[in-house]
Amino acid sequence: MFARLAVATVALLLVPVVPASAAGPLKDRTNRYVGSAVAAQPLNSEADYRSVLTREFDSVTPENEMKWAVVEPNRGQFNWSGADAIVNYARQNGKSVRGHTLVWHSQYPGWLNNLGSSELRSVVQQHINTEMGRYRGRIRAWDVVNEMFNEDGSRRQSIFQQRMGDNYVADAFRWARAADPSAKLYINDYNTEGVNAKSNALYNLVRTLKQQGVPIDGVGIQTHLSIQYGFPTSMRQNLERLAALGVDIAITEADVRIPLPADSTKLNTQANYYKQVWDACHAVSRCVEFTTWGFTDRHSWVPGTFPGEGAACLFDTNLRPKPAYTRINP
Ligand code: XIL
Repeated sequence: MFARLAVATVALLLVPVVPASAAGPLKDRTNRYVGSAVAAQPLNSEADYRSVLTREFDSVTPENEMKWAVVEPNRGQFNWSGADAIVNYARQNGKSVRGHTLVWHSQYPGWLNNLGSSELRSVVQQHINTEMGRYRGRIRAWDVVNEMFNEDGSRRQSIFQQRMGDNYVADAFRWARAADPSAKLYINDYNTEGVNAKSNALYNLVRTLKQQGVPIDGVGIQTHLSIQYGFPTSMRQNLERLAALGVDIAITEADVRIPLPADSTKLNTQANYYKQVWDACHAVSRCVEFTTWGFTDRHSWVPGTFPGEGAACLFDTNLRPKPAYTRINP
């Protein structure tokens, strides 16, 4: 009797007891890909993190592990350990992978700063070839160019823009298509949810690229929101106009920050925001993916990046579903 009790107790302690939704996992609620950013470290070391990810999502985006500064910190010196771990997890668990990201003004290695125009150009092409080539056929979609616009719709003066000129975008997409013809190629940005100066610029660029025959397949709308700003109510209209250009749409990095401390009113507002993003995607047939930037408040970039804000994810630090989760998966 005591032995049986002890065994039961030990089993209870070992198996992470995280309630699933009465409705079933989120990934089964929709025909869109339902994804999350994931980090290799907790994926390897936290059984409850891994099990909720596996249960609820059918797509993963490496949060940092495929960024240039991580994969090639010094020229010619590669570190694929985190990226490999996530891609292997995906293969073993039947998950789709979103590759993130190839050409970005942030988290690139410092050695790029020492390169002149023509060398940078060939190094970027080589980077795209090497990284996409390593995972060829295993990545559903790639964020090829990330965050290239300023808020006013002008081009961000990144080293790529400054040294390679306006054509760096078209070049990157052409190189990417050649490196892995099976991957959907996306441009990705933030604060482009509603109709505004930045999303107008994005729209105009994608239209031009399509007219020029540049191989671009989709637009990623990051969707980092905060309840202290109003919801971008023109989101559906914006997704519709982008889709009308003949590209897919993906919600790539959704999270909804809360000024701390969170309380039930704020969590309810957050739930409304998540639901509106979910609905905007589902209102547009070409919106093929709903991905959140992490799924648990235990591991979220928000508190470190936006001081005083947090609690931005669908699950709390103990991996219990929050009101936002229940709102989109009642
Ligand atoms: C963030 C990660 O979440 C952090 O861990 C890292 O320190 C900085 O980058 N837009 C993007 C993502 O495209 O790559 C960023 O990820 C969040 C904003």
